[in-house]
Amino acid sequence: MKTTAVAPSNIAFIKYWGRKNEDLRLPSNASISMNLDNLLTTTTVEFADDYNADILKINNQDVTNEGFEKVTKHLDRVRKLANINLHAKVVSNNSFPAGTGLSSSASGFAALTLAATAAAGLKLSQKELSILARQGSGSACRSIPNGFVEWLDGDTSETSYAESLYPENYWNLTDIVAVLTREVKEVATTEGHKLATASAFFETRQDNINHKISEIKTALAKKDFTLFGEITEAEALELHAIMITTIPSLIYWHPTTITLMKAVKRLRAEGIEAYFTINTGANVHVICETKNADKVSKIISETKGVEQIIVNKPSKGASLISNHLF
Ligand code: PMV
Repeated sequence: MKTTAVAPSNIAFIKYWGRKNEDLRLPSNASISMNLDNLLTTTTVEFADDYNADILKINNQDVTNEGFEKVTKHLDRVRKLANINLHAKVVSNNSFPAGTGLSSSASGFAALTLAATAAAGLKLSQKELSILARQGSGSACRSIPNGFVEWLDGDTSETSYAESLYPENYWNLTDIVAVLTREVKEVATTEGHKLATASAFFETRQDNINHKISEIKTALAKKDFTLFGEITEAEALELHAIMITTIPSLIYWHPTTITLMKAVKRLRAEGIEAYFTINTGANVHVICETKNADKVSKIISETKGVEQIIVNKPSKGASLISNHLF
């Protein structure tokens, strides 16, 4: 059977950084995120006798490097669950640049998980899909459920999955992605996670993380945008403080990243509330209430170094669609 899924990327307000179990991809802490409706991966999967090996195409390019190995390993998980040994053809398109800190592995592995399990004839629950997606790429587990999502801090594979806190229409927020570079980052996120505990600040982060999780949940429950934004921005800076202080240090920012951060602070000084957050890349997410989105988008797109903006609303999670890519 041939099956196609579309899945959103997501932006974490409280981040996943570091793992307590490498093999199972169990994160050091819980994380909270929002799915993004304009950062999408669409993936078609077909298992068939005709294929002598797995085939992977992303954005019309054959993929044979370590990205291919990660996908084949994930297909193996699906084959094992479905008890089949057919090879698969996988064709995938991203609506945004991959490997630049916009979490294409989250949308990618969420779409692959849903499309591949359905193509293999499996009917998994949302929780089972999230657990499986997590094993492909951690943050992919958060792109399975709808809207605003929590990845629970489980100690086992069965308890480490994401669930929806609120649906996508719960809060009118806009996430404006400022694309500053399409250059692929030098150190992959997977490697970054392994270095996290080497930072002297990691332990302090762990001591405070549960408090942060409950604070952001309060901000979400009350729709308190100031509290929400302050926690989100401070969390992004804390994440990068840890990255910068590992050995080797991970410096993902470009000079234009700092220009953007300062532009956001200036916006606030002028009375327009917006906050930034950044993952493993130079590109920046700017979050505001939708009533301010036009003003913020205009100023961000006019900021020096911004190549493109991608305006996102909160999105539902991964879903099956009927338009196949091949
Ligand atoms: O899921 P991964 O391995 O791509 O790691 C995601 C790491 C961050 O984007 C920096 C944080 C997060 O929670 O999304």
